[in-house]
Amino acid sequence: MQTRITQLFGIQHPIIQGGMHFVGKAELAAAVSNAGGLGIITALTQKTPELLAKEIARAREMTDKPIGVNLTFLPTFAKPPYPEYIAAIIDGGVKAVETAGRSPEEHMAQLKAAGIKVIHKCTSVRHALKAERIGCDAVSVDGFECGGHPGEDDVPNFILLPRAAEELKVPFVASGGMADGRSLVAAMALGAEGMNMGTRFIATKEAPVHDNVKNAIVAASELDTRLIMRSLRNTERVINNSGVEEILAIERAKGDALKIEDIIDQVAGIYPRVMEQGDMEAGAWSCGMVAGLVRDVPTVKELIDRIMAEAEAIITKRLAGALAK
Ligand SMILES: Cc1cc2nc3c(=O)[nH]c(=O)nc-3n(C[C@H](O)[C@H](O)[C@H](O)COP(=O)(O)O)c2cc1C
Repeated sequence: MQTRITQLFGIQHPIIQGGMHFVGKAELAAAVSNAGGLGIITALTQKTPELLAKEIARAREMTDKPIGVNLTFLPTFAKPPYPEYIAAIIDGGVKAVETAGRSPEEHMAQLKAAGIKVIHKCTSVRHALKAERIGCDAVSVDGFECGGHPGEDDVPNFILLPRAAEELKVPFVASGGMADGRSLVAAMALGAEGMNMGTRFIATKEAPVHDNVKNAIVAASELDTRLIMRSLRNTERVINNSGVEEILAIERAKGDALKIEDIIDQVAGIYPRVMEQGDMEAGAWSCGMVAGLVRDVPTVKELIDRIMAEAEAIITKRLAGALAK
């Protein structure tokens, strides 16, 4: 399947693996790229730009296909040294960057001078248009269903994607709630030229996380995520667990007076405990509603091949067949 997204990134299938903290390491990124998608290493999981350089080099040993790096601009206390992270990306020969969080505007000159294709992930049409205006090559449109930060507008992909298609000139992928061939065909029908998946890629053999995490996603239904930090305007969709129940109780008690310090124990430093040690009650970690569609732990190649075969069957048999009747 060829779209402007496959052409832009030089990949076989229009499937991207979104950046994921403590998941998007070399093993997963290389597996996705080897299977014909675009695998993405998550920069800030590497504590320093030097460690990111090593992670890129590790991925390079596992694949000669294009890989990308995610740069998340966080509303944090200590600002990471972004120009140095970008230098590591450039020196590592990476030609695709997924940006997320705030606008990548102040870094665009550095990225574009190195010939890097930038895909900005955002949750609204206005932010997508801004990304287009500042020179991003593509956009990842992240609907309300998504795991992680869905923004504050709460517009699901059935509305958000066609709205993006009405306004954008650059190509975009659908992100949030994507799991299978049905998702890909639906996303394309709504105007996207590919899809970005997070949660679905965690439940794969190559995802370098504890088996408890994969099993939790397989066990979860579409009802098992919660939104936290809304009153901080930093809404995050996470899988429910006892740590998250504590956050929600504190949020209810504090109301609009909530401060990040009130829930810091349940949101800070949780990822290594969950992803590496498999402590499933530790606290908040991102997970999409799409967990309700995840029922197995295939290899990345099995997953991507299955998605493409299913998409082709839907287009050529079910949809074409419906027209023929
Ligand atoms: C465990 C986890 C960690 C994530 N970490 C990041 C991150 O560090 N930066 C980022 O831009 N997006 C992050 N995301 C969002 C994904 O890249 C992707 O946009 C999202 O998962 C898409 O929704 P889906 O889970 O329904 O596929 C994360 C998602 C998950 C599930």
